[in-house]
Amino acid sequence: MIAKIDQLLQEVETITASNAEELEALRIKYLSKKGAINELMADFRTVPAEQKKEVGMKLNTLKTKAQEKIAALKEQFESQDNGCEGIDLTRTAYPMELGTRHPLTIVKNEIIDIFSRLGFCIAEGPEVEDDLHVFTKLNFAADHPARDMQDTFFVESNEDDVTKNIILRTHTSSVQVRAMDFSKPPIRILCPGRVYRNEAISYRAHCFFHQIEGLYIDKNVSFTDLKQVLLLFAKEMFGEETKIRLRPSYFPFTEPSAEMDISCNICGGKGCNFCKHTGWVEILGCGMVDPNVLEASGIDSKIYSGYAFGMGVERITNLKYQVKDLRMFSENDTRFLKEFENAY
Ligand code: DAH
Repeated sequence: MIAKIDQLLQEVETITASNAEELEALRIKYLSKKGAINELMADFRTVPAEQKKEVGMKLNTLKTKAQEKIAALKEQFESQDNGCEGIDLTRTAYPMELGTRHPLTIVKNEIIDIFSRLGFCIAEGPEVEDDLHVFTKLNFAADHPARDMQDTFFVESNEDDVTKNIILRTHTSSVQVRAMDFSKPPIRILCPGRVYRNEAISYRAHCFFHQIEGLYIDKNVSFTDLKQVLLLFAKEMFGEETKIRLRPSYFPFTEPSAEMDISCNICGGKGCNFCKHTGWVEILGCGMVDPNVLEASGIDSKIYSGYAFGMGVERITNLKYQVKDLRMFSENDTRFLKEFENAY
């Protein structure tokens, strides 16, 4: 018996296991109910009384040794494991998918870049606005159709005083008002942002889109300044050969007002389907800030004058990249977004 115990002691001393299964097999072999040590324990009854003490001590030593050894091996595996078991660490890594900038962001940044070189600073305002900033202070008459339920999303309407209606802004011109309320001329700002209109969603209309508003107020600002800045913008954005033309138009907040066309950048002005064979495509609205708008924000219209312009970022992006369906911009289809991987 003693010889058997000594032999097992020696064995236990040298056991090793290279994985969890091997270790479990060792545990079963030595420490389970039917394991070698328990078998010896069962035979302990047959040991002569005078040897019981010595054999008992040896058996205990063997059991403790085996338990310690197996526990140590187990700990070694657990600390090595790190969740990497079965993973081939030498395998080449998966290529990392890089995200791409959204086309509207690319174009917005390009526009900002052009105007910031001309000294325009970025100004931002809230998307949830009141009627006062979106309409009233921009010289919209109380019964102007743009205030109609069909165009504007209402958040809270106020029966007694429409200027207190809380709405989603329908254009970024509201940021002009906030800038004029809070700062004194000269003011030279660019206001990019999202705007909302209650329109049925289709390939050419959406209930939200993006605009960039420009505003410059100072002494002696003239329509010629406006025209020159817009010509420079058109050339930078669409190429040196681009021409512009201004058509008289109407906006409540500018007088005179105009809409600007650029020579069609797809056919170079010769006429194609895109420009409906006119050679021109409309890209923005603009004009001289109406004196009523200046006065509504406490700017003396006898001393100061200014120009403003506003453009749709989706429109400019369509012109640059011929995106046929506006909905693509907000569907997050990565196949579409991937096409702009190298666009900036
Ligand atoms: N706010 C106008 C719109 O949403 C765009 C616009 C036109 C802005 C003329 C201007 C401007 O500042 O002068 O259609």
